Amino acid sequence: MKKIAVFASGSGSNFQAIAVAAQAGILSAEISLLVCDKPGAFAVDRADMLGIPVLVISPKSYPSKAAYEEEILQKLISLDVEMIVLAGYMRLIGPTLLEAYEGKIVNIHPSLLPAFPGKDAIGQALAAGIETTGVTIHYVDEGMDTGPIIASASVRVEAGETRESLQKKIQRIEHSLYPEVLEKLLNGEGEVLQWERSVH
Ligand code: GAR
Repeated sequence: MKKIAVFASGSGSNFQAIAVAAQAGILSAEISLLVCDKPGAFAVDRADMLGIPVLVISPKSYPSKAAYEEEILQKLISLDVEMIVLAGYMRLIGPTLLEAYEGKIVNIHPSLLPAFPGKDAIGQALAAGIETTGVTIHYVDEGMDTGPIIASASVRVEAGETRESLQKKIQRIEHSLYPEVLEKLLNGEGEVLQWERSVH
């Protein structure tokens, strides 16, 4: 069973979807660790409820980003973690983790990248008045929501759509798409994955 670590900063609904898929055997991976950079985040409560070990680690307690990531890296190595799954981890990954896990870090983002990278992608899409937005899963590089795209799913923005209604639709897709794509990646199908899906 491949071992993965999920990184989250907030609610952790994607983390939970991945963990539940793993516990149900839909995703053939063991979630060895949740890494959370925000003490008090709900993701940590979810990990406790799911019985998944957590590393709560605040960058503020370290002299540099390299020192902060080195601490995480040592923990990942000690657990034989093979892949890092970012799920609402609102921080750029630095060279320490990127070099150690080259090509083995993935992220999910709530827009059709390269449109609307960074924070509040859903708000950005609404403000832009576009008719279609979506979800993108991609490999992580040193940029903000950049790196080769693995899969995407589009979502229609209906007339009168609110941030809450759009977020709900996007998250519903995220929760099914992420475990499905991770299963393919863990089975070595990453190279051939270039999915596009349309959800209405
Ligand atoms: C998700 O919608 C994810 O796509 C987004 O944060 C949310 C986290 O929700 N990620 C980004 O915006 C990354 N730039 P969750 O904590 O409930 O999984």
